[in-house]
Amino acid sequence: MVTPSFPAMRMRRGRSAPWIRDMLAEHRLHPSDLIWPLFICEGQGQEEPISTLPGVSRWSVDRLAEKAREARELGIPCVALFPNTPANLRSEDAREALNPDNLICRAIKAIKDAVPEVGILTDVALDPYTAHGHDGLTDANGRVLNDETTAVLVQQALVQAVSGADIVAPSDMMDGRVGAIRQGLEKAGCIDTAIMAYAAKYASAFYGPFRDAVGSRGLLKGDKRGYQMDPANGAEALREVALDLAEGADMVMVKPGLPYLDVLARVKDRFGVPTFAYQVSGEYAMIEAAAAAGAGERDALVLETLLAFKRAGATGVLTYHAPLAARLIAEQ
Ligand code: PBG
Repeated sequence: MVTPSFPAMRMRRGRSAPWIRDMLAEHRLHPSDLIWPLFICEGQGQEEPISTLPGVSRWSVDRLAEKAREARELGIPCVALFPNTPANLRSEDAREALNPDNLICRAIKAIKDAVPEVGILTDVALDPYTAHGHDGLTDANGRVLNDETTAVLVQQALVQAVSGADIVAPSDMMDGRVGAIRQGLEKAGCIDTAIMAYAAKYASAFYGPFRDAVGSRGLLKGDKRGYQMDPANGAEALREVALDLAEGADMVMVKPGLPYLDVLARVKDRFGVPTFAYQVSGEYAMIEAAAAAGAGERDALVLETLLAFKRAGATGVLTYHAPLAARLIAEQ
């Protein structure tokens, strides 16, 4: 490409007025780029604010339909559901994950009954159900067991799919779980249930507020570095994605978001498949803290960070700011 140099070329010509900036914008954020994570709690008529996620609450099942309706009105195509399982139902074997009448299954049905046009994504991992807060079953030394966990995850995914989940999203990072879940879904006739693999999920310090939201922070013994990825590694993410795609993932995800934009861009460039970013709880909390401290302006921070995901190649973004972002986009 031949680029004339200054003064023949003045890059600022393209930035000189709103209309030309609009015309030349390479990327644009749309509400359909957003997936809205929602937390669920037991009870009736409940809203439980989460102190480390200011502005985000857990909702009881009877109030979830309002949220799904809000998503539909805002043009947000899909919600992601996360249960805060009552403490007395958490166990070593996470059996509540397989209860077809558990919180998540009741939530799926409530939303599908009320607002069938909105897609539902559910997390496949055992951390909201285990007494120790890990994503899988553990051995006597507290090590997370791979194949034993995968067998339970397949059942968990099936229970969610049969309840009406449109996308099951394994976030557990066990090896081989995507293939096992795909096979299980096929066998059960759930051929239209999609899999979004948390393919490159890092052992991150940015998940703290989420663990408060699902009630696993205080329970967690040790850390998740034995199964989630090392933040030092980028090339390894490409291997993880290749494996999950070979096993039948329809879409992949990179998580967390902003600190891993390089990984997102490499994954999208290499594979060209639907690739999602998860702007996680700690990222949300940082933006809220910056806004509360007067260090930045919330709306601008939200729109700029979400646009950055699009520029890096994201098909879409899971973000707790989804409803705010959708409103801001509508106002633009
Ligand atoms: C559970 C799960 C986590 C998140 C999504 N699914 C936490 C973890 O792995 O400890 C984090 C999301 C967030 O921080 O917003 N497997």
